[in-house]
Amino acid sequence: MGSQGVSACVWLLCAVLVADGKNVLLIIGDDAGFESDVYNNTAIQTPHLRELAKRSLIFKNAFTSVSSCSPSRGAILTGLPQHQNGIYGLHQDVHHFNSFDDVRSLPLLLSQAGIRTGIIGKKHVGPETVYPFDFAYTEENSSVLQVGRNITRIKLLVRKFLQSKDQRPFFLYVAFHDPHRCGHSQPQYGPFCEKFGNGEPGMGRIPDWTPQYYTPEQVQVPYFIPDTPSARADLAAQYTTIGRMDQGIGLVLDELRSAGHDNDTLVIFSSDNGIPFPNGRTNLYWSGRAEPLLISSPGQPRCRGEVSQSFASLLDITPTILDWFSIPYPDYKVFGKSVTLTGKSLLPALEAEQPWTTVYGSQSHHEITMYYPMRSVQHMQYLLIHNLNFKMPFPIDQDFYVSPTFQDLLNRTISGRPTNWFKTLHSYYLRDRWELYDRSKDPSEVKNIAGDPGYHDLFLTMQEMLRKWQWETSDPWICAPDGVLEEKLDPPCRPLHNEL
Ligand SMILES: *[C@@H]1O[C@H](CO)[C@@H](O)[C@H](O)[C@H]1NC(C)=O
Ligand SMILES: *[C@@H]1O[C@H](CO)[C@@H](O)[C@H](O)[C@H]1NC(C)=O
Ligand SMILES: *[C@@H]1O[C@H](CO)[C@@H](O)[C@H](O)[C@H]1NC(C)=O
Ligand SMILES: *[C@@H]1O[C@H](CO)[C@@H](O)[C@H](O)[C@H]1NC(C)=O
Ligand SMILES: *[C@@H]1O[C@H](CO)[C@@H](O)[C@H](O)[C@H]1NC(C)=O
Repeated sequence: MGSQGVSACVWLLCAVLVADGKNVLLIIGDDAGFESDVYNNTAIQTPHLRELAKRSLIFKNAFTSVSSCSPSRGAILTGLPQHQNGIYGLHQDVHHFNSFDDVRSLPLLLSQAGIRTGIIGKKHVGPETVYPFDFAYTEENSSVLQVGRNITRIKLLVRKFLQSKDQRPFFLYVAFHDPHRCGHSQPQYGPFCEKFGNGEPGMGRIPDWTPQYYTPEQVQVPYFIPDTPSARADLAAQYTTIGRMDQGIGLVLDELRSAGHDNDTLVIFSSDNGIPFPNGRTNLYWSGRAEPLLISSPGQPRCRGEVSQSFASLLDITPTILDWFSIPYPDYKVFGKSVTLTGKSLLPALEAEQPWTTVYGSQSHHEITMYYPMRSVQHMQYLLIHNLNFKMPFPIDQDFYVSPTFQDLLNRTISGRPTNWFKTLHSYYLRDRWELYDRSKDPSEVKNIAGDPGYHDLFLTMQEMLRKWQWETSDPWICAPDGVLEEKLDPPCRPLHNEL
């Protein structure tokens, strides 16, 4: 399970600190990014995240393995990349992706080990038998606006969960639907549902929410977003919705404190994927993979607002939580292949800086029509992306398509006006098969050095690292796009002679 690296000292410390029972509160934002003063964005106020950060280790290099909602949540809750757990794309409606029936998820393993499990908010994974929770208020039986964005409702549900007479340790997963876009699904509330519950006519009221408003001039425009009035207004709306999540996090942490669980609960905050802007969500570039990650463990020395450079993956969440509860990962097989976790427990980072410098990525779909398989490895400052079906144009999702930012980008491109963007739509749609970037010299990842003779050895080394991880995680795409996997033959990748 990757806990071999945990020193005896860490185990002892945990045993002393949490002898009274140890619980976990996992908070996940929906498409949340670095729009927070915790990550030095001074244009937005997130006082509750800042409070949490003061008693957390702040990870500067945390990454999702997949930049899409359901696959990322599946990877968080199983420790297995999407190609190994089977949830290749979105779970809802016609997309209909699910994990394989035999996968043993975190809630399943915790429940079998006598831990009470709860989920409030957006679940977005299936099937139910793989992801069972004892207490569940999700889109499956409630309105996702209520359980995912109405922070008063969320507060009351957290209270209900914590008031239980059940004495078992708990795992509570609070999955905000904020700050996801809603211009595609609930346009009446604005592009980020930033008006939902703000007390204006027809918007209803969320009693615990004091909306924070931002002007387009106030926002910070990240390097990967066009600096245009449309994109700035879009970001200002996103900031307001982030403010609602931030106040919601404050309420959830207050409930934890009132219930007397301040000193016996590991609190983790992160997000599922990059922000829903160009080059963000659905991409394996930095802007699609990098995530905020705060881990607060009562009494741990580095949980006092220290910043860690150690690389963390959201594939590490399952091993971390199993480690916290001292539960070993079981030996089992899916489709005859042994399943092992390639992630690691992050608890040692709460003790001392760790030499972690590598994370992997694997994406196949977002929406059902958005097949664009990619695999990636980031090692130190180097990022390698393998675009398996690179001859197809990169696909665009429905809610991002109608966003003011993307509509404006399309309009400007069609009419030949300046886009104020760091890429062209042409270069965004049509990618090279292999992309290699040196982020220390090229932080926005625009200069592909895969063909540069000076980086040839590094290119080969990173291809080999990626291939090794794909074999370890039983990736069905291991031989694509120029070969077919024939497991009974040796070598198992058989050439297609398809001119690639
Ligand atoms: C914020 O900026 C300070 C000062 O430059 C730096 O020390 C710190 O690491 C930054 N924090 C994060 C999370 O990047
Ligand atoms: C949702 O399901 C949970 C059980 O998982 C149940 O306790 C709760 O009452 C249900 N809520 C609604 C609104 O049906
Ligand atoms: C939010 O939830 C509270 C408590 O259930 C309710 O009183 C309020 O009307 C809800 N607000 C909206 C906008 O639905
Ligand atoms: C938690 O620990 C802090 C600092 O040690 C202490 O002040 C506080 O009273 C403790 N809270 C509970 C609920 O035990
Ligand atoms: C883009 O152009 C269309 C057609 O001219 C127009 O209706 C729309 O408002 C424009 N959108 C943006 C964001 O500029």
